[in-house]
Amino acid sequence: MNPSVDDVRSFWQSNPLWSGESRHAPGSAEFFAEHRQVYIDDCFAGAMDERIFPQGRSRERVLDLGCGPGFWTVELGQRGCTELWACDLTDKAIELATRRCELYACQAQFKVGNAEALPFDDGWFSHVNCLGVIHHTPDTPATVREIARVLRQGGTASVSVYYRNVLLRGWPLFSFAGRWLRKLGVGLKGRGREAMVDNADVDEIVRLYDGADNPIGKSYTRQQFVALLETHFHVREVYFHFFPARALGVRIPRALHRLLDSLLPFMIYASLEKKDAAREA
Ligand SMILES: C[S@@+](CC[C@H](N)C(=O)[O-])C[C@H]1O[C@@H](n2cnc3c(N)ncnc32)[C@H](O)[C@@H]1O
Repeated sequence: MNPSVDDVRSFWQSNPLWSGESRHAPGSAEFFAEHRQVYIDDCFAGAMDERIFPQGRSRERVLDLGCGPGFWTVELGQRGCTELWACDLTDKAIELATRRCELYACQAQFKVGNAEALPFDDGWFSHVNCLGVIHHTPDTPATVREIARVLRQGGTASVSVYYRNVLLRGWPLFSFAGRWLRKLGVGLKGRGREAMVDNADVDEIVRLYDGADNPIGKSYTRQQFVALLETHFHVREVYFHFFPARALGVRIPRALHRLLDSLLPFMIYASLEKKDAAREA
């Protein structure tokens, strides 16, 4: 049976992002500081990509959708977003994001809600930030439609999903390597992911990345991602990042990490502008 939104909620409620992997108690200052460090290291090879953030009037009323423990909420707040909202399916994420914003003196409003049917009016936001979220929910096209619905005309969005990179496309050919990689200690620790790389099924590897019990994790080629977004958006820019070097078990030089980030990225990002449905009908 296909997983439901309730299954997704139940997983992320019990396994908020970075819990089960951190050395620190979820919600502590140390937990958030460590999370930011690892996030910027692994997702951006040590240097934040500013293309993610809204510019000019797009900063007026911003939604961080699927905010998790509030990493992006705080980053958006620190880049001059005037009115900031954070929304997530789980109240655990909202609790963590609220705590993080308190710690970093970030002004935001919070709402529990489902991205497939958002609890906001049409045209309410100038920008939606939705990173690492839409590939975890059953009805991804409905989520794209909802992001467009809550944006005003000319509104912008930043969206990312797992990228089906060359390794994931070729994994059945390479799968014999998985057992050896595991023996060498390659793989993520915690959240039941120890056997992740030792799997012949690419889709299973993607699902397992967030935890053994994660109900949904999808990956997209560039073509599939653009086709999904073009239903409601002009795709202004597509770019790539994310090589989870912490899974290697040994520290690698920053220059090598940057090379892997550009050659073997596991996330695809898009900068979007809402289409004017009336003009383009
Ligand atoms: C991998 S985490 C990403 C969190 C955050 N965006 C970040 O990048 O740090 C995925 C988050 O998406 C949320 N999520 C999944 N499906 C959702 C939905 N249908 N509506 C709202 N949030 C959802 C989960 O609860 C979880 O907090």
